[in-house]
Amino acid sequence: MIPGFGNHVSTEAVAGALPVGQNSPQRPPFGLYAEQLSGTAFTAPRAENRRSWLYRLRPAASHAPFQLYGRETRLRTAPFEEMPATPNRLRWDPLGTPQTPTDFLDGLVTYCGAGDVNAGSGLGVHLYAANLSMERRAFQNSDGEMLIVPQQGRLRLVTELGVVALEPQQVAVVPRGARFRVELPDGAARGYVCENYGALLRLPDLGPIGSNGLANPRDFETPVAAFEDVEGGFELVQKFQGGLWTTLLDHSPFDVVAWHGNLAPYRYDLRRFNVINTVSFDHPDPSIFTVLTSPSETPGTANVDFVIFPPRWMVAEHTFRPPWFHRNVMSEFMGLVHGAYDAKAGGFAPGGASLHNSMNGHGPDRASWEGASAAELKPHKIEGTLAFMFESRRVQRPTAWAVRTPLMQLDYDEVWADFPKAQMP
Ligand SMILES: [Fe+2]
Repeated sequence: MIPGFGNHVSTEAVAGALPVGQNSPQRPPFGLYAEQLSGTAFTAPRAENRRSWLYRLRPAASHAPFQLYGRETRLRTAPFEEMPATPNRLRWDPLGTPQTPTDFLDGLVTYCGAGDVNAGSGLGVHLYAANLSMERRAFQNSDGEMLIVPQQGRLRLVTELGVVALEPQQVAVVPRGARFRVELPDGAARGYVCENYGALLRLPDLGPIGSNGLANPRDFETPVAAFEDVEGGFELVQKFQGGLWTTLLDHSPFDVVAWHGNLAPYRYDLRRFNVINTVSFDHPDPSIFTVLTSPSETPGTANVDFVIFPPRWMVAEHTFRPPWFHRNVMSEFMGLVHGAYDAKAGGFAPGGASLHNSMNGHGPDRASWEGASAAELKPHKIEGTLAFMFESRRVQRPTAWAVRTPLMQLDYDEVWADFPKAQMP
């Protein structure tokens, strides 16, 4: 069940560790320390308010001062001012496996993003490629919650609130400020991350669809409390207003024995998404595929929408079935977990990415357009594919790395060249 919005979770790794009837008793069970982790302001309206109470071996406050992280990082944070905002359509080949031992944190590279972290709006879009599990090392992102979309290789997220096992076709959200480390059960992993600086992700309203459909609340899973009682050096790296800082703990930060509340990491299996689509004609707007949304201050105009293009039947009659040509107010970052996306015949590979910015034309490439224009319109099932989009009301700016990497396809515009001119009578 997705935490928040009325749903509260209680979990304890040791029976009796969770205080009953109050949050901060004078002496919590076993001498544990009570600590509140807030995901929203104390005074946020009840329907928006998110917080959990953690009961741990030591206070999270017990650490030496943070020092600047000395190692090279390709992580960037909004405002993105390295490069001008570009109206050009951008597309990238997939990231390769790192040549040197690289964990999830050091394997993150920012492609683009928007907004301003200090203003609490916008997003950062990162990809990761890693081949080393984080050991005795934890990460705390104080800038935003992180939506992780694995593309290759499983992840094991060890968080303060429990363990989240994650594989491609599943996604997880780690709350802002929650400490976690990433282990790689398959030895190597690659994927995408949306860092959301804005209002917390939640399920979209369903309107006339009714009370069921799209991502159903019951399919969101939170971890059970789990802790490790380990002494010795642990590095804690924190991202704070875009900067990386590091400190050394003399114990594992994953020492929460019990917790309760409505702020927690959660996992969702995208194969459980109940796809809603046309059964008559035309190609509806892709908003029907919204899994999670971070609203902005303008109703219906998201800070971030997480949208997927899953397997589904296509039955529309007398219709051009792939995505149409369009120019959108919103900016669209796309990734591909596996298979092929139905608007592109080639060039958009699993692990690759594209950015189509606000008001700039895009849509099917010529081969897809020709094929779909001539196709016999029998019911057809799109199978074996999962593409997704991080869509935002804000223009997404690329980082310097993203426009200089040889992964960027300099010939991308050519997919829309040489369309034949319409023949007027
Ligand atoms: Fe689009």
